[in-house]
Amino acid sequence: MYNLLKGKRGIIFGALDENSIAWKTAERAYEEGAKFVLTNAPIAMRMGQINKLAEKTGAEIIPADATSIEDLENLVKKSIEILGGKLDFVLHSIGMSVNVRKKIHYTESNYDFTTKGWDVSAVSFHKVMSVLYKQDAMNEWGSIVALTYMAAQRVFPDYNDMADNKAYLESIARSFGYFFGTDKKVRVNTISQSPTPTTAGKGVKGFDGFIAYADKMSPLGNATAQDCADYTISLFSDLTRKVTLQNLFHDGGFSNMGVSQSVMEYFEKE
Ligand SMILES: NC(=O)c1ccc[n+]([C@@H]2O[C@H](COP(=O)([O-])OP(=O)(O)OC[C@H]3O[C@@H](n4cnc5c(N)ncnc54)[C@H](O)[C@@H]3O)[C@@H](O)[C@H]2O)c1
Repeated sequence: MYNLLKGKRGIIFGALDENSIAWKTAERAYEEGAKFVLTNAPIAMRMGQINKLAEKTGAEIIPADATSIEDLENLVKKSIEILGGKLDFVLHSIGMSVNVRKKIHYTESNYDFTTKGWDVSAVSFHKVMSVLYKQDAMNEWGSIVALTYMAAQRVFPDYNDMADNKAYLESIARSFGYFFGTDKKVRVNTISQSPTPTTAGKGVKGFDGFIAYADKMSPLGNATAQDCADYTISLFSDLTRKVTLQNLFHDGGFSNMGVSQSVMEYFEKE
């Protein structure tokens, strides 16, 4: 380990179980010397195993529904008290679509469900940053990261309304990132991650097909949750202080591919 986050304080949203990208990131942040608070929606805590992670990383848990300003205000205020100072990093690793969960086809979207999924998956990022900004909770040269997927730019039919939510999320990163940069010297980026076998990932119809396809298309193969944790740590570290307003593809090269030899071979006639 490199002590990349020595003395840094943060909040990590979204660790549900040991497959979660946020879980792996929390383990890596701990190894790199950070102190942090873990948070998730109250309902996820009852199902999840977050206590195990908290014990392992010496973290406290503060429940918060990321769509509730009141919960977020409490979370940020208490985190600063517990950690003994302002924050250096925040990870938003949250996603949920009710239309996906209920297997409703994109063309048949239920708009109450669309609104709920948009609030949880995209607007919550604005709410988190708004609370951090108003409480002046971030140290200068701090780093805020949210996770996204390439369906924001290209069509993946089964990704459903999460594609629209991710496009909105990425736009919030740029729009809020401007103000966080100019006013507070804080950077804001999204990481566009390969398909990853987590609870949220596996909830997408046809997941097994498109994770295998992405792997065959990518020169380096799919990036795992562990790889994503490593990349996120680099963005929290002081080694990336001038990287902001970016959507950063972390996908083994998939996003710049047209076709790969192994995918072509699959379609070639004998
Ligand atoms: N798994 C993939 O294939 C993949 C690919 C690219 C991007 N991502 C993104 O990575 C992020 C993390 O997902 P994951 O794959 O680790 O899955 P995950 O299911 O482990 O994590 C999703 C988390 O969102 C939390 N959440 C849902 N509603 C919430 C609310 N109202 N308030 C607070 N938290 C809430 C859940 O409790 C859970 O911990 C998501 O933004 C997801 O879209 C995932």
